[in-house]
Amino acid sequence: MLDGLTDDHAAAVARRFPDGETWLAGLEARLAEVVARWRLTPLRPLPGGIGGYLLDVRTADGRDAVLKLSPTGGAQGAANRLEAYALRRWAGDGAARMLGVDLAAGALLLERCRPGATLDTLGDEEMLEHGCGLARRLQRPADDEDLLILPRAAEEVAIRAQRFGGLMDALGHPFSPAREQEIGALHRALATGDGAPVACHGDLNPGNVLAHDGGHVAVDPLPVLADAAYDAVSLVWAKRSWLLAQPDRAEILRRRIAIASDVLDADAEHVRAWALVRLTGVLDERSEWGGYDTAPFVALAELL
Ligand SMILES: Nc1ncnc2c1ncn2[C@@H]1O[C@H](COP(=O)(O)OP(=O)(O)O)[C@@H](O)[C@H]1O
Ligand SMILES: [Mg+2]
Repeated sequence: MLDGLTDDHAAAVARRFPDGETWLAGLEARLAEVVARWRLTPLRPLPGGIGGYLLDVRTADGRDAVLKLSPTGGAQGAANRLEAYALRRWAGDGAARMLGVDLAAGALLLERCRPGATLDTLGDEEMLEHGCGLARRLQRPADDEDLLILPRAAEEVAIRAQRFGGLMDALGHPFSPAREQEIGALHRALATGDGAPVACHGDLNPGNVLAHDGGHVAVDPLPVLADAAYDAVSLVWAKRSWLLAQPDRAEILRRRIAIASDVLDADAEHVRAWALVRLTGVLDERSEWGGYDTAPFVALAELL
């Protein structure tokens, strides 16, 4: 087993990615090949979650960097391309600078954030303020290249709106009847994609916002064309286990939405709508992974 790759992480990768098993089997060789070709010195692995394999490295010219290796098959290959696209466009402004990319190898080399603490080490309100502030800094009105390359969030919502009834059946009707009806209507409303498209980071969960040089920068984008409120969602539902254990959890959620709405200059109801719609997308996607606990998202849907 590769240094730092736990059994749990390996099992999660094998379940989640169609090519996960093959990728894990070839990971050690892939790592050795990339390290040699890019003349890197491997230092230590970073704690893994449900994604690829990351490790601290030093470059040949003595820079501290992070090497990220991801599976390359199917949807993940597309996600890798979009990640590199967004990082290239930001060029280190508000996001970690990309030092190298090899899409065929699923390899990404990033400048290392210092000290690199994730955004959830801040208090709740600061987490929302800084996270949404960064979202705003990273967002731009979509230009021709964005319109050509980035997926449209509204299209995904429209597809799910079409099969909403069947999806609810397949998931065993996780929401209360009134909430299910409301979420169905919100899908139809957001599927129209009204408004000028904005190129969004797409996955600003607190693990993707790192302390760097006295501020915060983003990593791990999954960019989409949406509207500004889209990026608030991963922060609104952040720290789910902690949040659900709080006696005033509904109030905390309202406060998070209010801050997001303020900082992103978006209507609070619109932020809430995106939270409910994206949460349904998570249930749709992740219930197929097996072993992924979707219950906190269901609980949040009733609180929102
Ligand atoms: N450039 C970086 N500098 C420092 N730490 C990083 C960097 N990139 C990633 N990390 C650490 O690795 C974690 C996972 O990286 P990420 O790219 O978000 O992968 P995943 O797809 O597994 O979420 C981050 O939450 C962060 O703690
Ligand atoms: Mg991440």
